[in-house]
Amino acid sequence: MRITIIGTGYVGLVTGACLAEQGNDVFCLDLDAAKIALLNDGGIPIHEPGLVDVVLRNRNAGRLVFSSDIGAAVAHGELLFIAVGTPPDEDGSADLTHVLSAAESIGRHMTGFKVVVDKSTVPVGTGDRVGAIIGGHLALRGVDATFSVVSNPEFLKEGAAVEDFMRPDRIVIGHANDKEGERARLLMTQLYRPFNRHRERTHWMDVRSAEFTKYAANAMLATRISFMNELANLADQVGADIEAVRRGIGSDPRIGHGFLYAGAGYGGSCFPKDVRALSHTASQHDLELLILRAVETVNERQKQVLGRKVMRRFGRDLAGKRFAVWGLSFKPNTDDMRGAPARVLLRELIDSGASVAVFDPVAMDEAARVFARDFTADELARIDFVAGPMEALDGAEALVIVTEWKAFRSPDFAQIKARLNYPVIFDGRNLFQPQLMAEYGIEYHGIGRSALTRTH
Ligand code: UDX
Repeated sequence: MRITIIGTGYVGLVTGACLAEQGNDVFCLDLDAAKIALLNDGGIPIHEPGLVDVVLRNRNAGRLVFSSDIGAAVAHGELLFIAVGTPPDEDGSADLTHVLSAAESIGRHMTGFKVVVDKSTVPVGTGDRVGAIIGGHLALRGVDATFSVVSNPEFLKEGAAVEDFMRPDRIVIGHANDKEGERARLLMTQLYRPFNRHRERTHWMDVRSAEFTKYAANAMLATRISFMNELANLADQVGADIEAVRRGIGSDPRIGHGFLYAGAGYGGSCFPKDVRALSHTASQHDLELLILRAVETVNERQKQVLGRKVMRRFGRDLAGKRFAVWGLSFKPNTDDMRGAPARVLLRELIDSGASVAVFDPVAMDEAARVFARDFTADELARIDFVAGPMEALDGAEALVIVTEWKAFRSPDFAQIKARLNYPVIFDGRNLFQPQLMAEYGIEYHGIGRSALTRTH
């Protein structure tokens, strides 16, 4: 099938590459000429496992092209995907500028039937706005062409986006019930047939429900995390182990095991933005989603949990003290620093006078870029980017783990103990067994695990 993807950001590029992999003829449009030049040269602007191979293979086969030519892009696809960013506005609402201007481009250029597929995460009702804009431009131009707007939200996890796209657990498609909507449904059914081979994964619904589903999913997941983080903080006080509690409740099939890990708070681009956007949508309808407000507040506080634990142990004045920090990205397998708890930790350590030695397997360049904005030159002088996890330990009072990269899961504990000034680990992701840490003579501070923490 002939597909156009408008926007070659994270979602657009993954979607375009993965659809090309199924034999579709994919045209990726981006107005950023530098990005298009990079992609045409075989470069990939983001770090995402497996993506380079899929992009290059399909580009070389001629099934995946990158261009800034809007007219050609709209002419190419029978299905036009809108996959542009919807960053948060100051009030928390999703900024729809790019989505609406994509709609405008479509309305200005289309001549025959098109299915317009909204993949960007957009507030309920945006599909109607997109339709109105396209319809308005067609009327202005006096063009007698029909179209249908479909909502097809993405559920890609950073670091596993290619895998998630290729093996989706569900496909949500919202469409209209009129003649064009039914035609759109036929085309979407064909497009997703390769992904539904073994069992049908598509949930068909109306456009507004599909738009809502995306926000509801992320809000539910964020709620689980904040809830577990609150329980972990209480577990710390009452001497229970949140990991045992997690297993104990997760085995109830009504609860399930996923997304119950207490930690240093959730980050990334999706959860923080979508939780706020859903709250904002509610407020526009004179509703306050009390649970979601709490989810956000708890998460902001949870990002401070590591800094709090460090200061409880080493005091509020950390001048002259150095700390090793493992993991900077908001989660493993990505270099994304948006909303990363490491940024909050570093801000607190630096404000308290400490210096830090940081290591991340992938996000060092991105972190340097972000820290250049977060910190002054004087503060930056107290942040050392070191070549490996063990190098970070030399001269450090303690190790703080913020991101659960695989390479951090089974380190040489004897070496950690030998290289740190004090053998103290603050583990923001509960990677290790507290009892084993006690065996090594390492003082261990997990999240919600005080029952098992021994001090030496
Ligand atoms: C999320 C959704 O999972 C995805 O479906 C949606 O399309 C985009 O948002 P992503 O932000 O890439 O994906 O990351 P995810 O793996 O979901 O993790 C989000 C955050 O929650 C991370 O900071 C992670 O550390 C944290 N988390 C996750 C926890 O703290 N505990 C958990 O149990 C799970």
